[in-house]
Amino acid sequence: MMQLAITGATSGIGAEKAKVLAPKCSRIFLLVRNREKAKELVQSIDPSGNNDKFTIIHCDLADLQSVAAAASTLREATDNLDLLINNAGGIFPEKKLTKDGHELTFSANHLGHFLLTQQVMPLLTNGDGGRVISVSSEAHKGASIDRKDLELIRNFGSFKAYANAKLYNILFTKSLAEKYADKNLEAYALHPGVVNTGFGNQSKGIFKILLSLFKPLMISPAKGAKTGIFLATTKQVPGKNGDYFKKSKTASVSSQAKSKKLRDQLWEYSMEQIKEFV
Ligand SMILES: NC(=O)c1ccc[n+]([C@@H]2O[C@H](COP(=O)([O-])OP(=O)(O)OC[C@H]3O[C@@H](n4cnc5c(N)ncnc54)[C@H](OP(=O)(O)O)[C@@H]3O)[C@@H](O)[C@H]2O)c1
Repeated sequence: MMQLAITGATSGIGAEKAKVLAPKCSRIFLLVRNREKAKELVQSIDPSGNNDKFTIIHCDLADLQSVAAAASTLREATDNLDLLINNAGGIFPEKKLTKDGHELTFSANHLGHFLLTQQVMPLLTNGDGGRVISVSSEAHKGASIDRKDLELIRNFGSFKAYANAKLYNILFTKSLAEKYADKNLEAYALHPGVVNTGFGNQSKGIFKILLSLFKPLMISPAKGAKTGIFLATTKQVPGKNGDYFKKSKTASVSSQAKSKKLRDQLWEYSMEQIKEFV
C-alpha cells in the first residue's frame, strides 16, 4: 500500500487517477484549491463515508505561500511519500500575473509544482524510493523559448505559454532524475492523450471553437488517466529515470526538452523564484 499526494484531483484526469489508485493506497493527500470539489470526489470514491485514508489540503499552485503552507501541512501529516503526482494545470486565454508576480500558466503548471516537490523531497527520499510523476503534454513540441523571458511576461501568448510550461514539466522531470537518482528518486513525465476534461474551458475565440469541434473525438478521462496509473503502479518502469511516456510507453521529446543548458537554466531560475519560501 502506498502513500500518494496528488494535485488537480478535483477534475478530469486527476480525479480518475485518484479513484483508480485509491484501493492501492494507505493514504492519499489531495492537494486542491477547491475543498468542496475534493470532498465530493472522496464521497464518490467511497460513498460509505469510510474515508479515513484521504486528507484534503488546500493548495493553490498559483500562490507560492499557499504551496509552501500545503507542503508544511503534508510534512506534519506524514514522514513518507511513495508518490507525488504533479497533475494540475491548464491553459489560460489571457496574460494574468499571480500575486507573486508570476505569469499564471507558468506558475500553475510549473513553478507551484517546483516548489511543492522541493518542499516534500525529504518525504520522497526518506524510505526505499519515491517517485514524482508530472503531467506534461505533446504540446511541449510547440514551445518557443525566450531565454531572457522564461515566463513570457513580456511577450505572452496563450498557447505559447502553455507549450512552454509543458516543456518545463519535462525539463524539471529530467533535472529531478539527474539530481536525486542517488536518493532513490524516480521521475517521469507523460502525455495523457487528448482528453475530454475541463481543460481549455476558459478559452476564447478560435481555440474555443476548435475545442468544441474536437470534444466528441477526444478520449475519456478514464483512458487519459491510464499512462499516469501505469507509471504509478509499475514497479520496474521501462526506459530510464527521467523519461517521458505516451500510451504507457517511452516516447520521444523535442530537442529543447533534451537540452541540459535549458534545464539547468530553468532549475536556477525556478530556485531563485522560490527562495523566500524554502
Ligand atoms: N485534457 C487534455 O487533453 C490534456 C492533454 C495534455 C495534457 N493535459 C494536462 O493534464 C493535466 C490535467 O488536466 P485535465 O485535462 O484533467 O484538466 P481539468 O479537468 O481542467 O483539470 C485541471 C485540474 O487542475 C487544477 N488546477 C488548475 N489550476 C490550479 C491551481 N492554480 N492550483 C491548484 N489546482 C489547479 C484544477 O482544479 P479546479 O478543479 O479547482 O479547477 C483541476 O483539478 C493538466 O496538467 C493538463 O495540462 C491535458
